[in-house]
Amino acid sequence: MTVQCETFSFEVHAEDGMARAGEVETAHGRFQTPIFMPVGTKGTVKAMTPEDLTDQIGAQIILGNTYHLYLRPGLDIIRKHGGLHEFMNWDGPILTDSGGYQVFSLEDLRKIKEDGVEFQDHIEGSYHFFTPEKVIEIQEVLGSDIMMAFDECPALPCSDEYMRESLARTTRWETRCLEARTRTDCALFGILQGGTSPEFRRAHIEELCELPFDGFAIGGLSVGEAKDKMYETVELSTPLMPHDKPKYLMGVGKPDDLVECIARGVDMFDCVIPTRNARNGQCFTSQGVVKIRNAVYAEDMRPLDPNCECYTCQNYTRSYLRHLYKAQEILSARLCTLHNLHYFLELTRTARQAIVEGRFEAFRKEYYARKEHA
Ligand code: GUN
Ligand code: ZN
Repeated sequence: MTVQCETFSFEVHAEDGMARAGEVETAHGRFQTPIFMPVGTKGTVKAMTPEDLTDQIGAQIILGNTYHLYLRPGLDIIRKHGGLHEFMNWDGPILTDSGGYQVFSLEDLRKIKEDGVEFQDHIEGSYHFFTPEKVIEIQEVLGSDIMMAFDECPALPCSDEYMRESLARTTRWETRCLEARTRTDCALFGILQGGTSPEFRRAHIEELCELPFDGFAIGGLSVGEAKDKMYETVELSTPLMPHDKPKYLMGVGKPDDLVECIARGVDMFDCVIPTRNARNGQCFTSQGVVKIRNAVYAEDMRPLDPNCECYTCQNYTRSYLRHLYKAQEILSARLCTLHNLHYFLELTRTARQAIVEGRFEAFRKEYYARKEHA
């Protein structure tokens, strides 16, 4: 008998075209979809405290990472704290990625076998072996609210023969993940692969969506393929995925991608872009991208985004933010991260409201119009 999650549920509240507004319940509370999940790879959303995330940004769920946390600080230390929530002082929902994606991006440092993947720590050089059973065990020790199954994200392009083998192996691995669960308070999502080939995508969806996962993710995208290929793949996938379970697009994306993929039926997103780019002075605004280091902002007395209610935009000028960036002050990272995450979360909140009110198309048009009239 495989273990089932008793603390997870999903409800669709409204639909507008392919777009959906819903709510997910986890052992650590609820979140409204569509949602953007800030990435906290190493047990921190870089430069943000949990209070920043809840009070300033309105984050409802964050991401953690099996690969990074397993290597550093390691499971003993996290177990000693009682899990990742206690370790990082975040008591809301946490989704953890399985490590599949991180291990596969190691390229020269890993070896794929039927049982799992052997890899070398990218920093210390020590050897490790991840199996489906191992990544479930790790995610259960972390106390993840939503665990991800162990998958292979093949580098594209690859031969049809390789893709066929890879998909079959990923299905075997993910089936083993279902059988390895022991906790009833951790949900488990399956991950769909298949590159940008409609045939492979359809085949994998058909095979995997039969299995009793609590939700499904579209993986293997945003790995260098053309943007229209990504949108086509999402549009093909979502109608074939179970209507009554969350649909999560992994590792995507920029604000346009969120709008376009919400339009195509995606409920959940995560990406390092708002946090990583903030630290490089790239800010996303309702009027497009602002590269705060540029000389044109030296004496610009306006806020980063005139349409933003975040702490940064309410209190500081572009001129000051440029100064902080140029002076390499750590407050630069904080203020830009806070704004970017607020912008991404606000975008999903306003999209949701539009879906609920049946005016998603108008919302989408207005989103592009604002950018053009900057
Ligand atoms: N993050 C972004 N894409 C992927 C993927 O295909 N698999 C996993 N496990 N994580 C991802
Ligand atoms: Zn702002």
